[in-house]
Amino acid sequence: MWTESEIDGYIRKHLKEGRYLHTLRVVKASGELAKIHGLDAKKARLAAYLHDCKKYMRENELREYLMSHPEGLKDADRPAEVLHGFAGAVFAEIEAGISDMEILEAIKWHTTGTPGMCDLAKVVFLADMIEEDRDFKGIEALRKAALKNLDAAMLMGLDLSLTYLLKSGKYIDPDTLHARNHFLVLVRDRIRINSKANI
Ligand SMILES: [Fe+2]
Ligand SMILES: [Fe+2]
Repeated sequence: MWTESEIDGYIRKHLKEGRYLHTLRVVKASGELAKIHGLDAKKARLAAYLHDCKKYMRENELREYLMSHPEGLKDADRPAEVLHGFAGAVFAEIEAGISDMEILEAIKWHTTGTPGMCDLAKVVFLADMIEEDRDFKGIEALRKAALKNLDAAMLMGLDLSLTYLLKSGKYIDPDTLHARNHFLVLVRDRIRINSKANI
């Protein structure tokens, strides 16, 4: 299995400087969020290091890469913007030798989200959105939510993401929609249970 410094060498070589620096900020944010939520910070950092490792590939290269590996075959038809996560997960498993399912899940779903994603995947998804250089309407509320409750923050992050996709006329990956509905039900049910308990 590749170490952090081997992964660093790979992404430093393949990613443009801006993307490389973004990756380092996501690594930092993932490690911090993982600690706050009692998760394995080393695993979160490793997933974050690799989350955009295939971002330098063109759309046709990404589709070919996914089609040439049985692990990626079923995801080769997804929208162009999300392919790098799926290709990154295949790369992490096959070439970087990572077998930890949570790390692979975190890389795979970092752009789309998916219902039932593990907490480590939520951490990397959110860290990617709130790393210190990001700036958009609603980011401060999202940063606060990410420190308090991963599911509520996922709902907020997915709502922001969907709003952006709709406004910019981009294709929406079905998993993003399913994930948003999943977290909506989860968060609403929790609020209902808590308010009943307080009656
Ligand atoms: Fe990404
Ligand atoms: Fe990213």
